[in-house]
Amino acid sequence: MDNKHKHIKTVTLAYFSGTGCTKAVADCFEKELLEQKLQVNKINIATDDTYHDKKTDLLIILSPVYAFQLAAIVEKWTKNLPKTNGTYAAVISVSGGGEVSPNTACRIKCKHLLKRKGYDLIYEKMMVMPSNFAIQARKQLNFDLINILPQKVNKIISDIMSGKKNLLKPKLQDRLFSTLGKAEHFGASIFGLSIHPSRDCNQCGKCVRNCPKKNIQMKNGSPKFGFHCLWCMKCIYYCPRKALSPRILKFSVLKNGFDMNHMIKRSSKKIANSKKGYSKNVLCQGAIDYLQEK
Ligand SMILES: Cc1cc2nc3c(=O)[nH]c(=O)nc-3n(C[C@H](O)[C@H](O)[C@H](O)COP(=O)(O)O)c2cc1C
Repeated sequence: MDNKHKHIKTVTLAYFSGTGCTKAVADCFEKELLEQKLQVNKINIATDDTYHDKKTDLLIILSPVYAFQLAAIVEKWTKNLPKTNGTYAAVISVSGGGEVSPNTACRIKCKHLLKRKGYDLIYEKMMVMPSNFAIQARKQLNFDLINILPQKVNKIISDIMSGKKNLLKPKLQDRLFSTLGKAEHFGASIFGLSIHPSRDCNQCGKCVRNCPKKNIQMKNGSPKFGFHCLWCMKCIYYCPRKALSPRILKFSVLKNGFDMNHMIKRSSKKIANSKKGYSKNVLCQGAIDYLQEK
């Protein structure tokens, strides 16, 4: 470890994760930081909405990208942070599409909020993980994204510790287009309201317990969805009976499902790095570029 930021001793990792990708990134950060003998305080924003102001030298916020923005729950949490005097901060976005237009503008609001709170922003990065939205990527691409994670996390940590900053300025058109993603918040509410159980539902209540917004209630033996859905897909993908589906925006749900824990277990830890196993879909190009960036 280089020594520019050697005085960083305690790191807070604050993350939100719908289907497990951002959690996997946060877990990887935790493991690597602990290996470097740093103290780590990990906060799951969905279950821990207060910010425990344990003395921290670096706050790392991690969020999935939803419609070219960070998850609303993460922005709200950031807005409620207490003021600080120059604590270091980093923002890590996790997407399926990568650092492509207009995803590049997704971190802007969070960075702005952090600056207003008095944080010294030193790093931002887009991590790419398997996409849980609309387009099913090839298995090999998903495995390689999982396998390359420790390498990517190590590079970020070593950049930060050696004082190397990474702050990006997205193009104006990306910023404008990204703000359209705000419509997703309304879309999410409608999407949530439209989710319904099929006859296969056995009222196990896992969706009720899993929902990060407590937006699902069991009524008359069946899950009922409220207006506060985040469109994170946790209820749909992790239903043990695959009994939940939306009535609208059905294209967003992957037909073969999405199980991050299963993918992590099956990944070989070796990067195939042969483009042959990757998708030809142009929307996967950002993920391929990420795998190949130096
Ligand atoms: C409603 C919704 C919108 C999404 N929008 C984007 C997007 O704009 N750009 C992108 O690259 N990925 C997008 N994704 C994919 C997720 O960012 C990606 O799969 C991420 O790894 C999910 O993280 P999680 O498992 O921690 O929830 C979207 C996913 C969902 C559910």
